[in-house]
Amino acid sequence: MTIYIGILTSGGDSPGLNAAIRGVGKAALNHYGMQIIGFRDGFRGMMENRTMRLEAADLSDILTRGGTILGTSRDKPHRMPVGGKVQDMTDVIVGNYHDNHLDVLVCLGGGGTQKNALRLKEKGLNVITLPKTIDNDVALTDITFGFDTALGIATDAIDRLHSTAHSHHRIIVVEIMGHRAGWLALGAGIAGGADVILIPEIPYAVESVAEAIRERSRRGKSFSIVAIAEGALSIKEHAELQSPTNEKGGLKKKESKKAETGYTPETQYAEKTVRLAKQIELLTGLESRITILGHLQRGGIPSAADRLIATRLGTACVDLIDQGQYGVMVATRGDGTKAVMLEDVAGKVKTVPPDHPWVLSARHVGISLGD
Ligand code: F6P
Repeated sequence: MTIYIGILTSGGDSPGLNAAIRGVGKAALNHYGMQIIGFRDGFRGMMENRTMRLEAADLSDILTRGGTILGTSRDKPHRMPVGGKVQDMTDVIVGNYHDNHLDVLVCLGGGGTQKNALRLKEKGLNVITLPKTIDNDVALTDITFGFDTALGIATDAIDRLHSTAHSHHRIIVVEIMGHRAGWLALGAGIAGGADVILIPEIPYAVESVAEAIRERSRRGKSFSIVAIAEGALSIKEHAELQSPTNEKGGLKKKESKKAETGYTPETQYAEKTVRLAKQIELLTGLESRITILGHLQRGGIPSAADRLIATRLGTACVDLIDQGQYGVMVATRGDGTKAVMLEDVAGKVKTVPPDHPWVLSARHVGISLGD
């Protein structure tokens, strides 16, 4: 009896997605004699039943390609804009699963995708997910594919910013992605030799940042690199977020904006970075400039490490299908993988513990974390 696998990519794209599709596809077709049907553009394409049968030829020459050959979207099955209003399209998706005679649906995605996959599991579908995101914020997996490539891109950017900051005796504030987690900014900040690293998990005081830069000036270093995670908050902003919504609903409006897309619009992040650079310039008397890395961190050829992680996860996924084990995320564990229940992953965000070894290492090489 031939097994039919459905596969989709959902959420922000990331390097390694095509390597993962290839890992699932080649293992299914060549090793187990299974069939594989791709859905375009995430859950949106599955709702519209836009399919792409994946044959051997479709899986050639995609290992090193960035992005996803299937396309992606941030659409959620239960809250999907259709016909000008947000509707629950879960049952349509369940119907298309059965109409395509699927035995399992494989979803490649980040935190949001884990939640969406759990909802489909609760509707009785066989689902397996693979943890993808440059943010590395998916719980219960050592790492997500996409992170290593983005780490390299952000580190290279910091390297390049050093020479221009040094030449002009400037402070350069570089904003790094990561959504609500600081893994990317912390890792690239350490690897790139940033002088200050600001992450969401450690609210910062602008005065502490300025003092760290003044201290460098006193030691003859007339330039500094500040790596700030897009979700980083000052102590004041952090306190505001903790307080109840004010009567004008200011926070409510900001929160509802986030609720629609699941992400704070980039402009909102960049505004904070511009404001911080201006404050530092005023407090230190040193000229400042900003660089927003944005989607550069999601683009291009996946690193070797990401290709290896994605391939390992893809083949392990098909091994689980062969064993009939569903309702799980395939997590990386050391050199191997581990199937973890979707119920234990969905809705959780893996953030940087303030006492994480990377945090301690940063402090011990003299990097200021703004606190
Ligand atoms: O989740 C990956 C990510 O790149 C985040 O780091 C970032 O905040 C978000 O996606 C941007 O989303 P979009 O591509 O929809 O603007």
